[in-house]
Amino acid sequence: MKVVLAKNAGFCGGVKRAVKLANENAGYGVCCLGDLVHNDFVVNELKSKGVKVVESIEGIKDSKVIIRSHGVHKSIRDKIKENNNEIIDCVCKKVSIIYDIVAENYKKGYNVIIIGNKDHPEVIGINSYCNDSALIVEDAKDLENLPEGKLIVVSQTTNNEENFKKLINLIKDISKDEVLVYNTICSATKNRQNSALELSKEVDVMIVLGGKKSSNTKKLFEVSKLNCKNVYLIESIKDFDYNILKKFNKIGITAGASTPDSVIKEAVSSMENFGNNEMMEAIESSFKRVRRGEVVEGEVLFVNE
Ligand code: F3S
Repeated sequence: MKVVLAKNAGFCGGVKRAVKLANENAGYGVCCLGDLVHNDFVVNELKSKGVKVVESIEGIKDSKVIIRSHGVHKSIRDKIKENNNEIIDCVCKKVSIIYDIVAENYKKGYNVIIIGNKDHPEVIGINSYCNDSALIVEDAKDLENLPEGKLIVVSQTTNNEENFKKLINLIKDISKDEVLVYNTICSATKNRQNSALELSKEVDVMIVLGGKKSSNTKKLFEVSKLNCKNVYLIESIKDFDYNILKKFNKIGITAGASTPDSVIKEAVSSMENFGNNEMMEAIESSFKRVRRGEVVEGEVLFVNE
């Protein structure tokens, strides 16, 4: 049996920065506006350090408020400041770049189109940089409302590349005016999806580790399904019946951008008959090399044949 870790899996740079910043500032009197990331392990660790998760900033004064990596509506940020709170700004640089693109082009008279999920906080935040005027496009049906005039199109960072390209082509076909396209899909997302796609072609089963509410984890699940019939999305290996793996020879593992290394290591090491030192050393060394960008696609972590 072989266990193979996708080349790109687990924490992305933005989440790593957010978790570090939040932990450095964690303590009693610190609030996080919503769960920092869609991962219970990360959230519970912050809670244990005194961080309170709040759904609204109503009544919060003279505190430290953590803003998550995918950002918030501009008005919320303003309100946090008005109430004499300090902002711990965990918004990913790749998201704030989209704010700048949208604000600048909106000022120049472009109509803003955001390809993404209408209810996602990242999309709601981006839309606030053009006074909530954007047309948010989830699928081709939404293009019935495409405005006239020059358009600027951006994407939610976790979007699927294929879907984005398909919708861009449709927009260009419909629009009679200039269409300025910024592919703002995050490379971390793309790399994770590509790695999952490649790995899923060569394994018998794929395990996708991540929070069920995490949109990038769900996309990894969808992408893996394209090539592999046996794909499981689990938050932790504790929720999983190892017996399922017995009939497979090659197991692929990938993980969402908000899944900590500890969860990935635990999953691999917990597989029946695999939790031995030799394997853990192989995983440790592989993680170090992944961080340095040295691991080749589909590296075999462990072989027991
Ligand atoms: Fe940022 Fe990309 Fe991660 S947008 S939070 S680095 S998935």
